[in-house]
Amino acid sequence: MNENNLWLERWENREIGFNQVTENAFMVKYFNHLNLRNENRVLVPLCGKTIDVSWLLAEGYGVTGIELSETAVIELFDDLGVVPNVSEVGELTLYRADKLHVFVGDIFKVSSEMLGSIDAIYDRAALVALTIGVRVEYTAHLRELTNNAPQLLLCFEYDQSLMNRTPYSVEESEVKKHYEEHYELELLTREEITGGFKGKLPACDVAWLLK
Ligand SMILES: C[S@@+](CC[C@H](N)C(=O)[O-])C[C@H]1O[C@@H](n2cnc3c(N)ncnc32)[C@H](O)[C@@H]1O
Repeated sequence: MNENNLWLERWENREIGFNQVTENAFMVKYFNHLNLRNENRVLVPLCGKTIDVSWLLAEGYGVTGIELSETAVIELFDDLGVVPNVSEVGELTLYRADKLHVFVGDIFKVSSEMLGSIDAIYDRAALVALTIGVRVEYTAHLRELTNNAPQLLLCFEYDQSLMNRTPYSVEESEVKKHYEEHYELELLTREEITGGFKGKLPACDVAWLLK
């Protein structure tokens, strides 16, 4: 089964432990480091149905999401209590309501023309959700889609030999490999996760600012 089908199956089987019940604390703490104006548009790649979208909208930003699972996108709009307008754009479906636009489909089928202007990227559980080969393509695609828009990137770091599945460990050396040539990288924080990752594996939460 390819990666995309695995994600669709996870949504179907409700294996969505990655979905947060409260806004991401690093997003709330560090988002202002992007120095945006509040009418700016933020891309949330691989957005799932994250509650972080609600926080970004409340801060006044326009938000564009991209998500493979239509179930996730329907639930995202339901949770926000808004009724989307649904249309076809290329091979994808676009759900829109006010300042929120969400493309349903594979991010690799989204072009910069379809997306329009993006002022910043918020990557939480997106880069780390992908296998290494796909991560190389994803980071290049994201840069091209957004013309190297500044980015708040949240990663996990742990010993990959102890668990080889999503969310993957994305260490500093890898972040640099993907982005160092194109951005100024600032390590905002690296914090040990209390009790370890999934309650057993020593791990850190890491936040990067890419400008
Ligand atoms: C770990 S989840 C994170 C979701 C969200 N960022 C969050 O913080 O809750 C990864 C999401 O990426 C979506 N996804 C995986 N591959 C994708 C692709 N190629 N294009 C679009 N979405 C994808 C999955 O369906 C899943 O909802």
